[in-house]
Amino acid sequence: MRLLPLIAFFVPFTFADPNTKRWVHRVKETFDAPRGWTKHSLPSPNHMIELQIGLRQPNFHILEQHLWEVSDPDHPRYGQHLFKDEVDALVAPDDEGLELVHEWLSSYGVDKNDITRSSAQDWVRVTLPLQLVEEMLDTSYHVWQHTDGDYLVRTTHYSLPEPLLDHIDVVQPTTLFGRWKGMKSTVLDFEDFDLGNVANTAKFDSEADFVDPTCNISITVSCLKQLYNAIGYVPSDCNNYSTIGVTAYLEQYANEADLQLFYHDQVPEAVGSTFDFISVKGGLNDQNISLAGVEANLDVQFAFGLAFPIPRTFYSTAGRPPFIPDATSTENTNEPYNDWLDFVLSHPDPPRVISTSYGEAEQTVPESYARRACQGFAQLGARGVTMTFPSGDGGVGDGNPDPATQQCQTNDGQNRTQFMPSFPAGCPYVTAIGATVNVPEIAVDFSGGGFSNYFPRPSYQDAVIEAYLKTIPEGTYEGLFNRSGRGFPDIAAQGSRFRVWYQNTSISVSGTSASSPTAAGIFALLNDARLSKGLPTLGFVNPLLYKGKVSATFNDITVGNNPGCGTPGFNATKGWDPITGFGTPNFGRLKELLAP
Ligand SMILES: *[C@@H]1O[C@H](CO)[C@@H](O)[C@H](O)[C@H]1NC(C)=O
Ligand SMILES: *[C@@H]1O[C@H](CO)[C@@H](O)[C@H](O)[C@H]1NC(C)=O
Ligand SMILES: *[C@@H]1O[C@H](CO)[C@@H](O)[C@H](O)[C@H]1NC(C)=O
Ligand SMILES: *[C@@H]1O[C@H](CO)[C@@H](O)[C@H](O)[C@H]1NC(C)=O
Ligand SMILES: *[C@@H]1O[C@H](CO)[C@@H](O)[C@H](O)[C@H]1NC(C)=O
Ligand SMILES: *[C@@H]1O[C@H](CO)[C@@H](O)[C@H](O)[C@H]1NC(C)=O
Ligand SMILES: *[C@@H]1O[C@H](CO)[C@@H](O)[C@H](O)[C@H]1NC(C)=O
Repeated sequence: MRLLPLIAFFVPFTFADPNTKRWVHRVKETFDAPRGWTKHSLPSPNHMIELQIGLRQPNFHILEQHLWEVSDPDHPRYGQHLFKDEVDALVAPDDEGLELVHEWLSSYGVDKNDITRSSAQDWVRVTLPLQLVEEMLDTSYHVWQHTDGDYLVRTTHYSLPEPLLDHIDVVQPTTLFGRWKGMKSTVLDFEDFDLGNVANTAKFDSEADFVDPTCNISITVSCLKQLYNAIGYVPSDCNNYSTIGVTAYLEQYANEADLQLFYHDQVPEAVGSTFDFISVKGGLNDQNISLAGVEANLDVQFAFGLAFPIPRTFYSTAGRPPFIPDATSTENTNEPYNDWLDFVLSHPDPPRVISTSYGEAEQTVPESYARRACQGFAQLGARGVTMTFPSGDGGVGDGNPDPATQQCQTNDGQNRTQFMPSFPAGCPYVTAIGATVNVPEIAVDFSGGGFSNYFPRPSYQDAVIEAYLKTIPEGTYEGLFNRSGRGFPDIAAQGSRFRVWYQNTSISVSGTSASSPTAAGIFALLNDARLSKGLPTLGFVNPLLYKGKVSATFNDITVGNNPGCGTPGFNATKGWDPITGFGTPNFGRLKELLAP
């Protein structure tokens, strides 16, 4: 129904640059704003947008082949991770695509010098006034408001010149309303618990090693080391290769004073130590204790506390509201997630393990964007980086722990009810971590799990998912989940009642946000053990985890289910299940197997 060719025919003489109008635009993407967002107002035409243009990676399938080979312990190339330059070459766009993009930009008067490109040249960035972006993408932006008060400048569709359609995968910020919530659900006042009483009355009788009874009430670094059989392992301090990173968004600051209190409380040997702070796109590091973030403190304290003294890096990525939505505002509302990926991929030696505790319901992220971000994770995997993500905090629901406001309807205008997989957990190139509770451990009800609608099941999951699907009674949840999708989580770790230091006091925090840094800490310790035996780091770890010998070392969680969308959700079962994966790690047994 677009009459652009016709319009183009009538208007060329009114424009200074005749080239501009030779483009015939076609719709590239339409995407309904996720629930909760409504149009608020028109943005200023001078509002600046940093346009991120993702060029197609015609050889991605070759990179993927490398990823499988270097990540498969049965392959001769196992552990031979690629260098940055090799990966960059494999994801580079073709020359024709690059030239066309430049031609397109310059026809709108964009100076070559104002363009920046990712190190693989696969992303082109340029900051332009909204008015020009609207012309280039034949669209119109609005200020959108979320029911909880956030604002974004976005559109629900955009177009590209016809010759570029096949060369560009994605242009953002356009249709991406994603907000990357921290996956933590509960903050309780720690004073509620009387640990003295628990210690005196609770009786633990696990066949495994003794676990401090207070761990059933409050999780500390020591509890995690006891539960996961890592007591007494002392990482070597002297190699620079086992490294661990934690990402932060949404102005979440990791407070150093809180970290010291945490170390005094739980990791005395780490008192006085800190971490490398890396600012991405001007991400801040405000140490005003009243601005400390629960999420950032949780992630840093447990990832770094578990992995100490392995070298630690904290990334703070800027680029999020508060955005003031008036007609004259020219503030930039970036997409911080891509900013971080771009940044970390441009570095020759990122941390070997990186934990992220932010995610989204998959359907709130346009598929084109989810795919490209996932391909970015594959690039990191091929370079030997283990990426952990939370599986989500809403059971089979949308990550919203409150049943009253949980949304289980599709966002495609049809409002079909279905389970809500999360992203990036559903990306087959990352390791998704579910959550457990209690000692002995059972699945916790909020633990996200299920099957992606965007990403098909990778072959490393075939056997275990086929086996799992057979345990579901015939006809159960028909149409609610995608039997051919990538199943998640891959594994689990404790995710309840973590004793976090926050604004000078200890609080209790729950969520798969806690599980992700915990798993990352264990992987960092394993990397350390492997390096000290002259073995390469784990890298993308899923193909390894799904080998029977390896998955059998996990503490299988067989009790619990993850309700959501008005159903009891999936059951924890013997073997892999979409609530705890293979279960929780046993560092000692993994070390025996992987760093003999
Ligand atoms: C741990 O707490 C749970 C829930 O309160 C309880 O059912 C379980 O018996 C406790 N475990 C032990 C060993 O006391
Ligand atoms: C670790 O890095 C430091 C500083 O860059 C360097 O001096 C040292 O030699 C490195 N150690 C190893 C074992 O590579
Ligand atoms: C710390 O942040 C709080 C809350 O924003 C503010 O009221 C206070 O003035 C800040 N303190 C300093 C020293 O900047
Ligand atoms: C789907 O739900 C939305 C929001 O509740 C509503 O506006 C719309 O009319 C519904 N569409 C259909 C086809 O039911
Ligand atoms: C189910 O997953 C497959 C594989 O990823 C995908 O092609 C299909 O569109 C999905 N179905 C739905 C209803 O989302
Ligand atoms: C979960 O287990 C319950 C009790 O055994 C059973 O009734 C239900 O069908 C199972 N649900 C699924 C999805 O397997
Ligand atoms: C933190 O708490 C301690 C003990 O309650 C108190 O002495 C100290 O002044 C507090 N520090 C800040 C910055 O509030």
